[in-house]
Amino acid sequence: MRAIVRPVARVRGTIAVPGDKSIAHRALMLAAISDGECAIEGVPEAGDVGSTARVLAQLGVRLHRGEPVRVEGAGLRGLQAPAGVLDCGNSGTTLRLLAGLLAGQRFGATLTGDASLRRRPMARIVEPLRAMGARVRCERDDRPPVTIAGGPLRGVTYRSPVASAQVKSCVLLAGLYADGPTRVIEPYATRDHTERLLDHLGVPVCVGPAGPDDAAGRAVEVRPVDRLRPLRGRVPGDLSSAAYWMALAAASPDADLCLQGVGLNPTRLAVVELLREWGAAIEIRPLGESLGEPYGDLRVRSAGVLAGGSIAGASVPALIDELPLLAALGPLTREGVEIRDAAELRVKESDRIATTCAALRALGVRVDERPDGLAVAGGQRPAAGRIRAAGDHRIALAFAVLAALAGGAEIDGAEACAVSYPGFFEQLGGLAVR
Ligand code: S3P
Repeated sequence: MRAIVRPVARVRGTIAVPGDKSIAHRALMLAAISDGECAIEGVPEAGDVGSTARVLAQLGVRLHRGEPVRVEGAGLRGLQAPAGVLDCGNSGTTLRLLAGLLAGQRFGATLTGDASLRRRPMARIVEPLRAMGARVRCERDDRPPVTIAGGPLRGVTYRSPVASAQVKSCVLLAGLYADGPTRVIEPYATRDHTERLLDHLGVPVCVGPAGPDDAAGRAVEVRPVDRLRPLRGRVPGDLSSAAYWMALAAASPDADLCLQGVGLNPTRLAVVELLREWGAAIEIRPLGESLGEPYGDLRVRSAGVLAGGSIAGASVPALIDELPLLAALGPLTREGVEIRDAAELRVKESDRIATTCAALRALGVRVDERPDGLAVAGGQRPAAGRIRAAGDHRIALAFAVLAALAGGAEIDGAEACAVSYPGFFEQLGGLAVR
């Protein structure tokens, strides 16, 4: 699908974003192995979450779509051997988290995905799972398909070389089936939805600094349990999806936008803090907690020209999904945007350093591509142009925002947005055009 994005004039009103993709994956997986009837509201229609639901159904879980999604928890030992290969579509979270869950089962399974997912590295989960005694192998180098034999696991302490919530969650989920406590030490704190949901379901989880001299990293320990309580509650709106609207409102004149019921988990709030540092006017109104996650409304008003700045080190994992968007804002900022220490972007749904740079250039923006990031000078005027989403939802969404703020664009492959944000282009089209 080719989306035609026109420059928008009035960014005003109220927008509800889809439920948080990261939380929804975990909620469905943990509901599947809980004891009893679960009811989860706010599960997004997103393609990635659909992949998790499909794979769980292949594992014998009875899952009823609708609002709420109802899941008949099969119990910790109740998953069944699948008849075929488990296709995780475009979703790295589905594949990496389920690998952890499947490592401790009494049956084998093979996980794979689409062409993009089959290019993504899996050694990062294979290594800790093997340390736990799991029999896991990849078909080619460290890429999917990933085949897991399933069997007894031992509790270990695993020091992850990458700051990845998917790796941490994979190991913690395997830890539910281990013979003792399992600890993951991550170099920088990453999103903690798994920890929060496990705690919410009655699993003992301990979180602390990675060590006396390591304040940036985190150590997380989980202990095996006999059962998980059934899960009931609402998935808050996805802050990473809200970020597109925050950027659009902050950088356009005469904007006043309310984003309703958005997740306010502190491990995800870095984008709000950064946009505020750049001058954005964002108010947060906390409303409560659901599934162990805080949520509330956000109000964003015009801020004039954003400052821009550098993003590096611990900020990178905290902003990982927002980096294409922040780079896309680069030409419109005063100081430009520089991203360093972000080689991880090269192994996302696309090589996001390359695809972000290509999209900027397609709009006539000068950008310097680097092995671990990029630099875009501020004060540039993007022209109208034609962008390729490259099968990557975040590229389609980030550049729709830049196009709406600048001279418009045609986005080829805009349907990629459905992986996290179906309906985005319809909502964007609902705003008044310039
Ligand atoms: C996610 C973790 C991040 C993020 C992805 C979702 C999760 O990936 O980019 O969109 O739900 O755990 P990494 O763990 O690979 O950084």
